[in-house]
Amino acid sequence: MTLAHHRVVITAAGRDFGRTLALRFADRGAEVHLSARTLDAAERVRDEIRAQGHGADRVHAYACDLTAPASVREFAAAVAARTDRVDVLVNNGSRYQHGTDLLSASDEDVVDTLASGATGTVLATKAFLPLLLKSPRPDIVTMVSGCGEAGHHRSDAHDAFYAAKSAQAGFTEILSRRLRDRGVRVISLYPPDFDNHDPLSEAWEGAPRTAKDPLTAQSLVDCVFFAIGQPRDCFIKSFHFEQV
Ligand SMILES: NC(=O)c1ccc[n+]([C@@H]2O[C@H](COP(=O)([O-])OP(=O)(O)OC[C@H]3O[C@@H](n4cnc5c(N)ncnc54)[C@H](OP(=O)(O)O)[C@@H]3O)[C@@H](O)[C@H]2O)c1
Repeated sequence: MTLAHHRVVITAAGRDFGRTLALRFADRGAEVHLSARTLDAAERVRDEIRAQGHGADRVHAYACDLTAPASVREFAAAVAARTDRVDVLVNNGSRYQHGTDLLSASDEDVVDTLASGATGTVLATKAFLPLLLKSPRPDIVTMVSGCGEAGHHRSDAHDAFYAAKSAQAGFTEILSRRLRDRGVRVISLYPPDFDNHDPLSEAWEGAPRTAKDPLTAQSLVDCVFFAIGQPRDCFIKSFHFEQV
């Protein structure tokens, strides 16, 4: 499936899965607007994508701190200065916090974990919604986590991370319902810990994968492409995964 007509915004694409998504969307021909907490990190990924042969006018880098409302608004305004619509918003950014003991995280860690994952997702979606509503095929993709599933308890993530992911789950659930009539699909992924192979490494394709292996970033990218590639009467709402 080519995505040559898609204009895509990805948060926190300076490393790991966000970077992978940015590289993969660019592979499919999409116009990519990627952010990272620092402009340097975003520009590094932008330059990697350009080095793969993607046109300089088809990939753009921005700074965005998801915990700062003004930064999110400035990101959306900077994208709006370049394009009059956005077809896909990927809410990828969310700080991880490790630790099964509530007391193991400082108050600042707790605030930052919730602000980046929960508040940041709401703010980014709000900031980009006007541009999404100008698209004939708007999709909002959110990287939640198994930690956002009711009753989930298998991760060593901190309670604040569980809270952030549960907030994303609640937000996208109601948003999906409320934006249905306006044609906006709200697609959420609830993966367990997955293998963030570098998409530029040889291991991306080809390595044997069995039921004992962890889920890979490649499968998650494939889920995203599958969901956004469906006809517009097909509203895939979520992807859930059985853990190893
Ligand atoms: N990896 C997994 O096994 C797994 C499993 C389930 C769900 N997920 C979810 O999938 C998404 C991507 O996962 P990942 O493995 O790539 O995560 P990751 O390696 O923990 O990276 C987190 C990303 O979020 C960014 N971030 C943190 N705080 C931010 C802030 N205040 N403003 C903007 N960006 C901020 C980080 O930027 P910096 O580089 O500046 O720190 C980084 O790019 C996340 O939402 C994650 O919760 C991941």
